[in-house]
Amino acid sequence: MSNKPVVYVGMSADLIHPGHINILMRAAEFGDVTVGLLTDAAIAGYKRLPHMTYEQRRTVVENLKGVARVVPQESLDYVPNLEQLRPDFVVHGDDWRTGVQRSTRQRVIDALKQWGGELIEIPYTQGISSTQLNASLKQIGTTPSVRLSRLRRLLDTKPLVRLLESHSGLVGLIVENTSVEREGHTVEFDGMWSSSLTDSLYRGKPDIEAVDISSRLQIVNDLFEVTTKPLVFDGDTGGKPEHFSFTVRSLERLGASAVIIEDKEGLKRNSLLGTDVKQTQSSIEDFCMRIDIGKKAQITDDFMVIARIESLILDKGVDDAIERAEAYVGAGADAVMIHSRRKEPDEVFEFCRRFDKIERRVPLVAVPTSYSQVSEEELARRGVNIVIYANHMLRAAFPQMSRVAKIILENGRALEAESHLAPISEALGLIPETAG
Ligand code: SPV
Ligand code: MG
Repeated sequence: MSNKPVVYVGMSADLIHPGHINILMRAAEFGDVTVGLLTDAAIAGYKRLPHMTYEQRRTVVENLKGVARVVPQESLDYVPNLEQLRPDFVVHGDDWRTGVQRSTRQRVIDALKQWGGELIEIPYTQGISSTQLNASLKQIGTTPSVRLSRLRRLLDTKPLVRLLESHSGLVGLIVENTSVEREGHTVEFDGMWSSSLTDSLYRGKPDIEAVDISSRLQIVNDLFEVTTKPLVFDGDTGGKPEHFSFTVRSLERLGASAVIIEDKEGLKRNSLLGTDVKQTQSSIEDFCMRIDIGKKAQITDDFMVIARIESLILDKGVDDAIERAEAYVGAGADAVMIHSRRKEPDEVFEFCRRFDKIERRVPLVAVPTSYSQVSEEELARRGVNIVIYANHMLRAAFPQMSRVAKIILENGRALEAESHLAPISEALGLIPETAG
């Protein structure tokens, strides 16, 4: 290293634009520039997964003029790296003085004080930003392989991956574009759940595999036409074993990331009906064979076959569920979903505890429909890796539609229903081509 002062610049560098170059050029005027490149986990913790992996981003940044070296920054917080490197200067755009990054900035200032370092703020480059570029990329769309691999990348980088049921292109747009601020962070859904229940209800049919796979895949196609986020497909029982390999290939070709199949056989009924209806659980052996068929059929490395255990739904207890989990993972399942229809989460939590100790601990999926009081934070703490809100968009739409239908009948006109309706401009505003 030269004797020049040490300059530290933290960045994600996912979509490099003139704003970044400006910062780096100005930083280089003060000394040797070390870029603290945010890791995928650090970025995914506060916004969406970067388009490029850490390695790809590092290759780009290492080769930018004025960059002396690149080190990983493992969190949004600069302090651990700063205390280690004790730079003379930190250089950053002046846009972080307001908004959610304010506290991060203050911690940088306080840390630098310890050794007399200085924060240099560069006027924000107007007219271009990563936010704009991200929005443009969303409009261009994505490719099947990029979308498919996103679920594994999310699982590698986020403590909990959040999926929302999507039964139409319109709902897909809601999943794609809805974000809120929660405790200083932007939170969004990470992807979509293609639910057999809502795909069936949407067609006015029961959830008994009566909607064929081609129709279900048509919905996936509609979703993929207008979104970039990954999708997990509810494969019911997988259908006839001889058919399941075709389903896996079709899903992969479209760019779905995973299929979840459940260990039931015969006429499948919705799990939330539990033992009120006749449902038969498969033998462990039979179900392992179905998992194996799926795993052998897939072409990419990233596609996931997820085994769903119905023991708790059918009152067979946690022992049975754990025995099955071990067998299914042994048969090649890439993840396990545990389902329950109880209002209390105790049996799911007990499963989580014991699942943590099985030999090959794969990701765990939970569907907190009946135990909706449990927060994401608690699920993550218990070891859940994917949470699915399995039917909420359709259940939200249905009462509102019924209400408006009644109001029109009761009044002989639509005026009284207006307060229940989105203005046309708001509805159309969701769709990029007509927004404006
Ligand atoms: C679905 O969404 O179709 C599911 C979850 O399989 S559940 O309805 O709870 O069984
Ligand atoms: Mg289902």
